[in-house]
Amino acid sequence: MSGEPQSERFIWNRKHLLGLRELSREELFHIFDTAEGFKEISRRSIKKAPPLRGKVVVNLFFEDSTRTRNSFSLAASRLSADVMEFTAKTSSVSKGETLRDTARNLEAMGIDIVVIRHSAGGAPHLLSRCIDACVINAGDGYHEHPTQGLLDIFTIRELRGDMTGLKVAIVGDIAHSRVARSNIWGLHTLGAQVFLVGPPTLMPSEVGKLPVTVCHDFDAIIGQMDVMNMLRVQFERIGSTVFPSVREYTRLFGLTMNRMKRAKKDVIVMHPGPINRGLELESEVADGPNSTILRQVANGLAVRMAVLFLVNQAAAQK
Ligand code: CP
Repeated sequence: MSGEPQSERFIWNRKHLLGLRELSREELFHIFDTAEGFKEISRRSIKKAPPLRGKVVVNLFFEDSTRTRNSFSLAASRLSADVMEFTAKTSSVSKGETLRDTARNLEAMGIDIVVIRHSAGGAPHLLSRCIDACVINAGDGYHEHPTQGLLDIFTIRELRGDMTGLKVAIVGDIAHSRVARSNIWGLHTLGAQVFLVGPPTLMPSEVGKLPVTVCHDFDAIIGQMDVMNMLRVQFERIGSTVFPSVREYTRLFGLTMNRMKRAKKDVIVMHPGPINRGLELESEVADGPNSTILRQVANGLAVRMAVLFLVNQAAAQK
């Protein structure tokens, strides 16, 4: 693995991880180097280390999740924290309790780190202002999903080393994608060239302000790309009028075996999950040799261990 190694003297001083937009190159590399060190714990016969012993991590999820939630739970357990699982649907949120009251009541029980997923952009930022615990954003509305961005970029870095000049296409439903935004900021900071590919109706309104090249013709650029991150079409967030039909979407923007013939032989194919198989990604591609989908999930564990460790370390210094 290459990429810039961190100075041993680098001091991480953020007790919250709210987004990748505000992180510097040095901070990104420090997370990656810390994650690299934590990968070894998962190879031990007893997969446990003590850094968060006696600490309490709360998973505060107001939206469904398979990868992020379980990965944070396992990451916290691997670091010996106690983990409290909160699911909005089965909580007093259903009786009208606010986010602030919910968090402050949990904090009264003595918690150290809150991992929050919420449908409202900015919910983790609000939380960081009304509780003392560390706050980690596990996805807020269309805004950011920083640990997904980190694990995606960590995976690219593992395979390619230096990001400078690397061409990364983020394809599909950009407008509703917090994954896209975190990837854009992190990749841009590390010197990659980001291409957003999709229909105009699935581009965000602020696209002109993002450090990206926009393209509506996938076939025109596919042959130049080093990485293609295929986004899920988020049917739960979009109306039925953003593209004419599922078949039309797949014809223009789906990654099929046929379209892969135009790509570089060693192109990295990513997807944050869950996949709409046969829509944005053909199964043969998702399960094929260029796919890093399960590697991303495995790396997510080490990245989340690193983030939990670092925010706790920063809180202890304050
Ligand atoms: N990639 C991702 O956030 O997946 P989940 O919604 O399953 O957490």
